[in-house]
Amino acid sequence: MSTNGVQQTTDMQVNELYIQAIEDILSKTLMNIDRFETRFPHASIDEKYILNDNDDWTNGFWSGILWLCYEYSQDERYLKAAEGTVASFRQRLDQQFNLDHHDIGFLYSLSAKAQWIITGDESARELALAAADVLMKRWRNTNDGSGYIQAWGAKDNEHEAGRIIIDCLLNLPLLYWASEQTGDPKYREAAEIQAERTRRYLVRGDDSSYHTFFFDVQTGIPIGGATHQGYNNGSTWTRGQAWGVYGFALSYRYTGNAAFLETSKRMARYFLEHLPEDSVAYWDFNAPPADDTYRDSSASAIVAAGLVEIISHLDAADPDRLYFEEMLAISMQSLINNYATIGDDAAEGFLKHGSYHVLGGFSPDDYTIWGDYYYLEALMRLAKGIPGYWYGRK
Ligand code: GLY
Repeated sequence: MSTNGVQQTTDMQVNELYIQAIEDILSKTLMNIDRFETRFPHASIDEKYILNDNDDWTNGFWSGILWLCYEYSQDERYLKAAEGTVASFRQRLDQQFNLDHHDIGFLYSLSAKAQWIITGDESARELALAAADVLMKRWRNTNDGSGYIQAWGAKDNEHEAGRIIIDCLLNLPLLYWASEQTGDPKYREAAEIQAERTRRYLVRGDDSSYHTFFFDVQTGIPIGGATHQGYNNGSTWTRGQAWGVYGFALSYRYTGNAAFLETSKRMARYFLEHLPEDSVAYWDFNAPPADDTYRDSSASAIVAAGLVEIISHLDAADPDRLYFEEMLAISMQSLINNYATIGDDAAEGFLKHGSYHVLGGFSPDDYTIWGDYYYLEALMRLAKGIPGYWYGRK
């Protein structure tokens, strides 16, 4: 197609690019199955994934990658490896090993729930429901008749007891889904209150966001925002904004509450309007931009997957949809052309230049398993309509 003499990329060419990127990931993942054995990749140092036992918040992403590869290819090698990860998650739940935090949805949506979605395995469904019960233990009642999901630490931890975190939005789909499955509204009610509390207090008036926010433990009265991985308390940590974009869109899917979709769209606009020239985000929107300022490709990958979710809720002729579609195509092409390891057959990761915790000094410019997961999820959604595992299939 040619417009005013300018060669346009056709939809078919774009789809071919996505398929090429997926095929590259499939072969890397086969090699990674052999390299990682029973361990779980987290983020990298010197281009090698740090491999851990199943003991961190990031372990579900490897499982999710394996399930996506299996759904796409139907190749039993991915299935076998994916089932192996779910067995490990079963053991982790049985032993209650390192589950005393809000990240249970990241872990069990992409492992046990994914297995149930794809294979219909009843024991996997039960495992995911048991995980939802574990997440509900983070619920703290406040004496105004409301409550919240405590991010980290024990209930009596003086510093952490009143803290919520924007990342938790991605853990709420496990709760919404548990209500759908069991008919018990308690999970959905908690999730909706948490999403609304996050919308009111972590999203600022200009659609930027705090990473975390503290409340009075007894009364639920708001105290103030604070960062954990961002540049400073008043800054907007890019990945936190990305969790908001995708997370609110998912809360809209489950609840139909239009305020959640509106918030997701506004946060997406903020994100897209604050990108540098190559359309992939710096690690914090307030980090002074310089030649050596780190990017966070994982934040852009999360937003890409989130934009696909937003777009799925908008009419074809909606001008917002046209804007988001255009920005999504630009972001994906930049990720593929400038950040992906396509063609580097020995690479373990799929996306370079992700950052975990810049000021903490942890993997500030590396592969991240969540960046790899969301990049693959976005590709799968765009090229094949495989939507990932945040919600069940009709
Ligand atoms: N949920 C932790 C992170 O995004 O680094």
